[in-house]
Amino acid sequence: MSRRPATEVFHDWALIGKDEGMERGHAFAVNEMLEFLFKQAEDMPDKFSAIDVGCGNGWVVRLLKSHSACGYAEGIDGASAMIEKAKTIDPDGYYSKCLLPEFEPSRKYDFLHSMEFLYYLDNPQNMLKVFFEQWIQPQGWAVIGIDHYLENEESLTWPEHVGVNMTTLSINQWLEAWGAAGFSNIKHWQTGKKSAETLIIAGQKLS
Ligand SMILES: C[S@@+](CC[C@H](N)C(=O)[O-])C[C@H]1O[C@@H](n2cnc3c(N)ncnc32)[C@H](O)[C@@H]1O
Repeated sequence: MSRRPATEVFHDWALIGKDEGMERGHAFAVNEMLEFLFKQAEDMPDKFSAIDVGCGNGWVVRLLKSHSACGYAEGIDGASAMIEKAKTIDPDGYYSKCLLPEFEPSRKYDFLHSMEFLYYLDNPQNMLKVFFEQWIQPQGWAVIGIDHYLENEESLTWPEHVGVNMTTLSINQWLEAWGAAGFSNIKHWQTGKKSAETLIIAGQKLS
């Protein structure tokens, strides 16, 4: 199958309602990611700011916003129909169409959350570095979930099956990339409803 840009494929998915299936499929792991994130927020003196990168229809932004300690939450995604859907569901929310890695944010965040986005980039290792340097506040955290990685054998056919390029790294390669990007306190675990298919990695910006 020929390969298309991921944002085009997910634009089409939003038009036919497949974003809702993703939301259901990712909810189990995302709940653990948010539980971790909200726990770290308890140590912050002020209300936290957060961005969801590759936010799809914006469902995680709405979960972030509904937390009492959240002062600001926004979502970005490169698929027009995903962002249009997010704005239709939540007209007062902050959702923007942005293509990575080119997009540069105009502010920094206490939390960068991202589910099932990073491996669509050709160089996710460099994106982690840029997140660390330009997107995250000192003491802030990145919390990122991915289902496509070397040890999740079922996921290795996805680039062919979905018709989209994906960067395939092993768990160790991901952890090395987080360390090289500058993150400290790096934690990782695998989770899932039926099997432990989601690799969650979290790291803090201390320097
Ligand atoms: C698998 S979906 C996950 C969506 C959402 N995080 C969720 O869990 O429902 C991946 C999302 O990343 C977005 N995406 C992929 N590559 C991108 C890029 N280069 N720039 C911006 N968004 C991108 C897609 O448009 C898509 O909405």
